[in-house]
Formats: sequence, C-alpha cells, structure tokens
Amino acid sequence: MYLEREKKITKEAPFKICFVCLGNICRSPTAEGIFQHLVNERRLQAYFEVDSAGTSAYHSGQSADSNAQKIASQNNIKLLSKARRLEQYDLDYFDMIVAMDFENFSNISLLDTSKRYGDKIVLLREFDPEPEDKQVPDPYFGGIEGFEHVFKIVKRSCEKLLDELEAKIEK
Ligand code: 4NP
Repeated sequence: MYLEREKKITKEAPFKICFVCLGNICRSPTAEGIFQHLVNERRLQAYFEVDSAGTSAYHSGQSADSNAQKIASQNNIKLLSKARRLEQYDLDYFDMIVAMDFENFSNISLLDTSKRYGDKIVLLREFDPEPEDKQVPDPYFGGIEGFEHVFKIVKRSCEKLLDELEAKIEK
C-alpha cells in the first residue's frame, strides 16, 4: 500500500495532500479544512501542504457551500478554499490524492493517462474507523443533516489518516 512504501515526511519534503470531490464546494473543502485544523492542532504545519479540488469545473472560483461553512464554523473550522478543477499536473505534484467517492476515484484515475500515479489515489473512507460504507455521500442536493453526517465521517477519517501520516514524520 502507498503509505507503507512512501518515504519519510520531513520539513524539507512536506507531504502534499489534495482532497477531491465533484464540485469542490461541499465534501473536499470540508476535508481540507478539517485536515488542516488537525495539522494545526498537532503543530505539524511544517510537514504538510493541504489542498482540495473537484473533478468538475461546475463551481470554479466559488467559496464552500454555505451549509458546509455553517457546520464547519460550529466546530471552529473556517473553510477558506475557492473551488477549482483537478488538473493532470496535480497528479504529479501531490503525494496523495484523496477521493470522496467511487465516481471521483474513477475520474481521477482517468486523468492518469500515463498510469504512473495509481498508488497516490485513495478513497478517504479507507481510513474510516467506522466504515459502514466506502463512500462519503454527496450532501449537495439535501438538507443540513447531510452536511452534519459528512462532517462526522470526514473528521474521524481524517484523524486516522493523519495518525498514519504522522508516524512517517522524521523530526
Ligand atoms: P461536492 O458536492 O462534490 O461535495 O462539492 C457537489 C457540488 C455540486 C454538485 C454536485 C455535488 N453539482 O452537481 O453541481
């Protein structure tokens, strides 16, 4: 598995991680915000570069959805991202690309035309300690409860993911 083979994380070579959903306004900005918040809490800012993107350009330039922002701010997290589409060069740039659902995963894989980056592409819920499902559900067309549900899934998955990555840091 990618994490087992990957080299140590150092200040000279911070780990670059990009969370990806469809629109980059609900799930992946939430994941970016939570992961960055956890990194800050653990004082690991020097070791990580955190970003998010969408497989579509539907909402390019937009801030996170207001419901996503509301739930995040209730948890003292600000979502600062502006939506952008994931590009082919991102596959080379980032060390890990974290997909929210199967559709995102397969669209990211389609960008990997050279078939060199498959090991970097993972599903967030591979790290979910309570994985009743493999996908983070799309909350966009539903109510605020869907965003609360997404927040909980993403938070516990990001905690576990960061636990695993933190173990690879060489201080
Ligand atoms: P996201 O949610 O992929 O979590 O940002 C969505 C945002 C927009 C649309 C679908 C999902 N849309 O169809 O416009």
